[in-house]
Amino acid sequence: MLDVEAIKVWFPIRRGIFNTVAGYVRAVDGVSLSIKEGETVGLVGESGCGKTTLGRAILGLEKISSGTVRFQNQDLRALRGKQLRTLRRNLQMIFQDPFASLNPRLTVMDLITEGLAEHGLLGQESRKEAAARLMLEVGLEPEGMCRFPHEFSGGQRQRISIARALSLQPKFIVCDEPVSALDVSVQAQVINLLLDLRSRHNLSYLFISHDLSVVRLIAQRIAVMYLGKLVECGSCEQIMTDPQHPYTRTLLSAILLPGVKRSRTQPLQGDLTAAPAPETGCAFRNRCPLALPVCAKVTPPLRTIQGRTVACHALAPSNQEVAE
Ligand SMILES: Nc1ncnc2c1ncn2[C@@H]1O[C@H](COP(=O)(O)OP(=O)(O)O)[C@@H](O)[C@H]1O
Ligand SMILES: [Mg+2]
Repeated sequence: MLDVEAIKVWFPIRRGIFNTVAGYVRAVDGVSLSIKEGETVGLVGESGCGKTTLGRAILGLEKISSGTVRFQNQDLRALRGKQLRTLRRNLQMIFQDPFASLNPRLTVMDLITEGLAEHGLLGQESRKEAAARLMLEVGLEPEGMCRFPHEFSGGQRQRISIARALSLQPKFIVCDEPVSALDVSVQAQVINLLLDLRSRHNLSYLFISHDLSVVRLIAQRIAVMYLGKLVECGSCEQIMTDPQHPYTRTLLSAILLPGVKRSRTQPLQGDLTAAPAPETGCAFRNRCPLALPVCAKVTPPLRTIQGRTVACHALAPSNQEVAE
């Protein structure tokens, strides 16, 4: 349904009084990803690796430097005007911070039905009816529709954001860290709501989180991102039980899961800023326990290893996969 091909989003760094471009932040640097109808792909990686930028670029909220995004076989960048508006209704986003993403001056009813009104879809149904229907759908009491967002708890606000996203009956939703700002007990409720809505409406999600223990609850496939590039992509089971890329392994060893033996990997040294993306070679090499001389020279391509794709020089594909 959604096909992302080799997209790059580079932000120019401007310097001096002439505003000359001194370089680029390669926030997203050649990511390819496809998502089927009804499927959830989890996108994980530490803060600043480009997850939000990728999600926004897919929805056309961020200018793409190169590459294509196709939704139902239509190139989003080639569409204009009415066609684009109609298609864009199918693509929605839920933001990380339920406190910052809702306009504090609008009532819940206005917030939820804003999109419907904007697209001229409030036909026979009045604003009130539409708001009540959507509020019930996300587990909120319709009595609260005349109140303002600050009167609700974090979890309830995230439900308001979800109702807002659902109002235009989308097919695909980018959930950008939708539970990261919530208490652990509330996180589970919101995840359950998203699961429930997925099966009821056959929705597809790109579920972004820095936390593998959250992503595994909802994603069928997981893509691991490091400094603008995907380093490993496989089924939830493959990533959670048998991670291959050294970065995925350290991510996994950093979380505690019931019934899973903690691996002995050392915690990662440094952070993203301690290891600026080298122009060539593997971006992870400065922090990698397996780094080889070749890692400094050649950017590792994504290869199939143990049934999933991994970008690492240090891992050897099995003989059968070489033959393929
Ligand atoms: N509008 C922007 N202008 C310049 N740099 C940006 C902009 N938005 C994001 N970045 C940079 O792009 C990188 C990725 O950011 P982001 O996508 O927000 O990461 P994540 O969501 O994984 O934490 C960061 O280094 C960030 O500073
Ligand atoms: Mg983010």
